[in-house]
Amino acid sequence: MSDKTFELVNPETGKKTALPVHEGSMGPGSIGVTGLFKEQGVFTYDPGFAATSSCKSAITFIDGQEGVLMYRGYPIEQLAGKSNFIEVAYLLLYGELPDKSSLAGFDEQIRYHTMINESLLRFFNGFHYDAHPMAMVSSVICSMSAFYHDSTDIRNANHRETFAHRIIAKIPTIAAAAYKHSQGQPFIYPSNDLDYCSNLLRMFFAVPCESYEVNPVAARALDLLFILHADHEQNASTSTVRIAGSSDSNPYAAIAAGVSSLWGPAHGGANEAVLKMLNEIGSTKNIPKFVARAKDKQDPFRLMGFGHRVYKNYDPRATLIREMCHKVLEELGSANEPLLELAMALEEVALEDEYFVKRNLYPNVDFYSGIIYKALGIPTSMFTVMFAIARTVGWVAHWQESLEDPDRRIGRPRQVYIGPTKRDYVELSQRG
Ligand code: ACO
Repeated sequence: MSDKTFELVNPETGKKTALPVHEGSMGPGSIGVTGLFKEQGVFTYDPGFAATSSCKSAITFIDGQEGVLMYRGYPIEQLAGKSNFIEVAYLLLYGELPDKSSLAGFDEQIRYHTMINESLLRFFNGFHYDAHPMAMVSSVICSMSAFYHDSTDIRNANHRETFAHRIIAKIPTIAAAAYKHSQGQPFIYPSNDLDYCSNLLRMFFAVPCESYEVNPVAARALDLLFILHADHEQNASTSTVRIAGSSDSNPYAAIAAGVSSLWGPAHGGANEAVLKMLNEIGSTKNIPKFVARAKDKQDPFRLMGFGHRVYKNYDPRATLIREMCHKVLEELGSANEPLLELAMALEEVALEDEYFVKRNLYPNVDFYSGIIYKALGIPTSMFTVMFAIARTVGWVAHWQESLEDPDRRIGRPRQVYIGPTKRDYVELSQRG
């Protein structure tokens, strides 16, 4: 904490309170309001926590005005260009880039833990074939709380590390099982001689009766998407994991809460919503009609994949992914994909429209990620599951950090009560 304070004067009583300012290593400081109620008898009100820092974190830095995103101080552009998902996962979890042997050891651990208990595999049979994969994935992850008891003592650092390796290694296997169940195809066991993304593609698309070659372009594209989605500081799902974990809950249950939060179309579900929206628009000639609907406050329709709570200039992940999007479509032979043409035309119209310009509404990462997933053959309903696989690393890193935080307390916000004031119970026979 710095020596800086922020003085607050109660206009009614004249009472002054010097609130401490918590300074970070980069970005704006935050006024500490913990003692405010005791001093002044009021709480703070901030729907959506838009101006509230819920914790101190050393994992990810975002400057929304400048379009900056860094993991542990490394700019996302450098990590996207030079690193890979497993190395980025190590960086997010342990705070530093690994040396050769640490990276090899971490990679081996993740490969070692890819299988899931056979009983867990049978859980999928309880779901209807058309169950949303996010429902299956969050349920099976939560069910992992009933397994792996040797690694869920949250006070034990070794247990925490084993949990981290297990969940990161097993979530692609769970995702693939959900996909295979929806297709009515047999489950494909993980192949630990393959890297993380190649193994995932094989578990998704291989069938026992045919040989399967992983397309390296597809594996690289997936790896890039996973790097870009691995963490994003205190977003809704990460904050959910932190809050769920703040009651000392089972770590698998906390991650399952994160998956549920990610599912919504205002968050991770946006990539699925973008594809649905593009299909609904159908053709470039319909763009003006849909843009007009997005601007109409009486119409709940929004342009999916546009806007961001934090990025008010541009989303740096969108810039990287846009390039990859063109490359993937060219290399996989779907450059003339009509949906991409439609997406580019929509982007052009929206970027020039005064409504979007005035509100700094730019395409976000999910505007393009869905198009890449589609080119890779991943069905629309699985898009958010892909996001969940990558974000699991961030969730685990934040969960671990929160457990070691000296300021850690159970997450328990206040409210402004607006319901009825005290009234007396009326007997049923006397109610009109
Ligand atoms: N289409 C049309 N108008 C929009 C959109 C949009 N996509 N996004 C925001 N606006 C408008 C709002 O109506 C509001 O207008 P007003 O000032 O006239 O009332 C203004 O822009 C500010 O929007 P808020 O909703 O206050 O912004 P907030 O920060 O709360 O929401 C959010 C951000 C949820 C991402 C929003 O922009 C949205 O719904 N976008 C579409 C869904 C989406 O793409 N989500 C993915 C987010 S990225 C991620 O999770 C990886």
